[in-house]
Amino acid sequence: MRSRDEEARAILRGNDRGGYSVPNGRVYPFQWNWDSAFVALGFATFDGNRAWQEIETLFAAQWADGFVPHIVFWQDDAGYFPGPDRWQAGEGVRTSGITQPPVAASIVRTLWDGDPGVRPRLAALFPKLLAWHRWFWRYRDFEGRGVVVAMHPWETGRDNSPEWDVPGAAIDTAGVAPYVRRDLGHLDAAMRPTGAEYDRYVALVDFGRSTGWDHARIAAENPFRVADVGMSMIFLRANRDLLALAQVLSDDAAADEIAGHIARAEQGIGWLWDDAARSWCSRDTITGRSSGFVTSASFLSFWAGAGDGPRDEAMLAHLDRIGMRVGYLMPSLDPDDPGFQMLRYWRGPVWAVVNYMIGRGLKEAGHVAAGERIRADTNGLIARSGFYEAFDPTGGAPTGGDTFSWTAAIWLAWAR
Ligand code: DGY
Repeated sequence: MRSRDEEARAILRGNDRGGYSVPNGRVYPFQWNWDSAFVALGFATFDGNRAWQEIETLFAAQWADGFVPHIVFWQDDAGYFPGPDRWQAGEGVRTSGITQPPVAASIVRTLWDGDPGVRPRLAALFPKLLAWHRWFWRYRDFEGRGVVVAMHPWETGRDNSPEWDVPGAAIDTAGVAPYVRRDLGHLDAAMRPTGAEYDRYVALVDFGRSTGWDHARIAAENPFRVADVGMSMIFLRANRDLLALAQVLSDDAAADEIAGHIARAEQGIGWLWDDAARSWCSRDTITGRSSGFVTSASFLSFWAGAGDGPRDEAMLAHLDRIGMRVGYLMPSLDPDDPGFQMLRYWRGPVWAVVNYMIGRGLKEAGHVAAGERIRADTNGLIARSGFYEAFDPTGGAPTGGDTFSWTAAIWLAWAR
């Protein structure tokens, strides 16, 4: 029998399409932005060149204004909806028109090991990373609050989190032209977003396309503009990591620019603290209302270094409470929430990549036992069930796609 390590490497090799990876060849047959960043961590454990290549290929799809798309359609595949014809986006290669959590700078910092042989690759990638961050500052923090405003639930990576239910209800889906979901041909509907949610996703794609993917117009007029706690925490951390890379490269001007944005985010992130929930929560920028949901993204405050004594204590109290309720941390939704569903995508299941960020963040903040529980639970899930997209936090059953690249990568890089 193959060991889990061997299986993980075989999955990464099997999902390699030559310079980039697919998350899973059937359900997600293209290159996805934040998937590729995490996948690079896995490759780095046995093929350093291939790890850098994964990120370099993603940035080969970057637009002139710095935008990096959430999907790159390097090849055709009819097994996914919405494909490139629905998006009508891209420069050079066809892409989607929205982005995804900007975790790449943090991963590149981890890949950077001080090896002088790698320095030219770091130096070549750095301006592209900086351009993407500038794009975020311009089009996803257009009010200058120091948080990231998501324009689509897919942009957050946590597609059907209940955080998007109330803001999403304002999206007019009446004009959505007929479409066929392909995900349901691959997976059980009980593990996926609902039809009503999909209508909203497609309506937002249609709206973006109608602007010609004019991100300034989208920032002003998009019917969904939610300050996502997950992206905001990930971006704050990514800016800290980008600053460290600027210092490695002795780029003082970039370092000053990035430090200014970090200071702004440290000031502004408090807007996402919800006193009633005693948690970090996403907030609708159109209505100003907090979602009030405690999700796995709330715990990314440790990864970001966003907390203070009392807020960290409150989050640790949530962690202890939730840890008593489930077999495996960290469920994507608080199990005490009535909307918790243990197998439905981002309404309950555990995701290894989020655990990686929470676990590392906790340990870095000195909460070693809590961080170790997250790592050990991730290990236990994969050891028990294999390399699935996500897992039921109560009993550890698999959910979503199998042979999943980022789950394999997190095993190799952190959880094993
Ligand atoms: C999907 O199609 O389910 C993806 O999560 C979109 O990024």
